[in-house]
Amino acid sequence: MPDKLNIAIFASGNGSNFRAIHEAIIGGKIRNAQIALVISNNSDAGALEIARGFNIPAMHISRTQYRSDDEFNATLIGALAKHHINFIALAGYMKKIDASIVGAFRNRIVNIHPALLPKFGGNGMYGMYVHEAVVAAKEKLSGATVHIVDDEYDHGIIVLQKTIVVEPADTAETLAARVLNIEHEIYPEAIRLFAEGKIKIENGKVIISQ
Ligand code: GAR
Repeated sequence: MPDKLNIAIFASGNGSNFRAIHEAIIGGKIRNAQIALVISNNSDAGALEIARGFNIPAMHISRTQYRSDDEFNATLIGALAKHHINFIALAGYMKKIDASIVGAFRNRIVNIHPALLPKFGGNGMYGMYVHEAVVAAKEKLSGATVHIVDDEYDHGIIVLQKTIVVEPADTAETLAARVLNIEHEIYPEAIRLFAEGKIKIENGKVIISQ
């Protein structure tokens, strides 16, 4: 077994993906992992409330509280170090992670995106905008993607993906709800694979052993 995953969740919103991962851990589906810290840029985030309910340290850290990017990123890095974080899961975090953090956690930051990357990703493609774009493009398929975070938005190596059919009657809202359900399946599954040491990144490719 590799070292236990000591996870920090970064979340801006409701926190349902964070909850799905935490429930998989406490329900015994994911072993060798714990969520040790939740960080949000948004003081009202449901994710912070969920964390407090579970007695998980919860911090509101926003760029607006600091005079410079450097000060903000140093605060994030300080919080991660204080809680001995060795893995980061972005779960509905709507801000870009600075290169200094990506560099310090190379191949140890994952994100969930509500579409089939590389389609419908990139700057401005988040939350409901993604589903609106998928419906407007009359896509036949959509889904969710777990990927490694690198220096570009929604760009890193894909770890897991699951596809669903877009029905002709789907609106962005109905599609979002079905995609969210599959996010709650594949995100805990991806974390389990990391926690069990079953994911290796070699030459820019993911190798998964079951
Ligand atoms: C999820 O659908 C997630 O994929 C999306 O935000 C939602 C957060 O929901 N993330 C992005 O769009 C990032 N580009 P949650 O707060 O209930 O987990």
